[in-house]
Amino acid sequence: MVVGSLNQDIVLEVPRLPGPGDTVLGVRPATAGFGGKGANQAAAAATFLEHPGAVALVGRVGDDEAGEAMLEDLRRRGADVTGVRRSAGPSGTATVALDPHGENLILVDPGANAALTAEDVRVPLVADATVLLLQLEVPVAAVRAALDHTQGRVVLNPAPAGNAAAFVRDVDVLVPNRLELAEIVGAAPATDVDEALDQARRLGARADLVVTMGREGALVLTAAGRAELVAAPPVEAVDSTGAGDCFCGVLASLLTEGVDIVEATRAAVVAASSSVLGRGARGALPSRAEVTRQLTRLRHVTQEPSRWQQS
Ligand code: RIB
Repeated sequence: MVVGSLNQDIVLEVPRLPGPGDTVLGVRPATAGFGGKGANQAAAAATFLEHPGAVALVGRVGDDEAGEAMLEDLRRRGADVTGVRRSAGPSGTATVALDPHGENLILVDPGANAALTAEDVRVPLVADATVLLLQLEVPVAAVRAALDHTQGRVVLNPAPAGNAAAFVRDVDVLVPNRLELAEIVGAAPATDVDEALDQARRLGARADLVVTMGREGALVLTAAGRAELVAAPPVEAVDSTGAGDCFCGVLASLLTEGVDIVEATRAAVVAASSSVLGRGARGALPSRAEVTRQLTRLRHVTQEPSRWQQS
């Protein structure tokens, strides 16, 4: 169960990402695609699980064409969007600048996402969820209501991290990236894994913590104090937009099956690495079969396949 944002992404390829006061020209005409952290995470989970209706999304789109197209893409992937309401006015829009290395810079106009209410999320889908996956691109009142209303295990991707402090002690699994972790603890972004681990420990959350570290993989610090770095396979990224969302969608999917957090992180790292090989936030979301194939290739010398790979 995902509660979160749906956006239309307008992507402009640029020779370099702009800094303050900068103007940068695109190298080709902008393209439109599907995005929004909530919808991307639901799409990644639905693509991974391949079981119609196993994943549901609660959110808001506008009464425009973009809103209908976004819903249709999610339905096509097998996600249940009956909990997505339509508001008068425009859907959310994100402007994505994408550089030649696949790195991005994103500006979001929330549109209909800003209209998501506490009432919208107080629904049986949320109450009965096995795992509830949240981000912070929708109003905090809706996030708080979802958290209070569910009986499921709560996974929070604190993105953007501005309002995260209010939630980090109330969730079961926290999945920040390096920049979000730094913002939450009030420090400069960690420059290496040891520094990230130090910041993760300073957070003092009672949650399992999974810090996504881009090309380096992900750092797991469990609530019991076990720390492990899960390395990412080397890939030539085409577009990293939505890689964190793919990670969260796959991680949460495996948590619904009771998979151990480190094992689930191994799969999520591989899935996110595949996702950067296509353009757009959902251009290369992998199926479970694809992730399994990659994992088996990576570990064939050293380890047995994990339990979830056989399920
Ligand atoms: O995480 C990537 C997403 O952030 C993009 O799809 C964009 O819509 C913003 O929500």
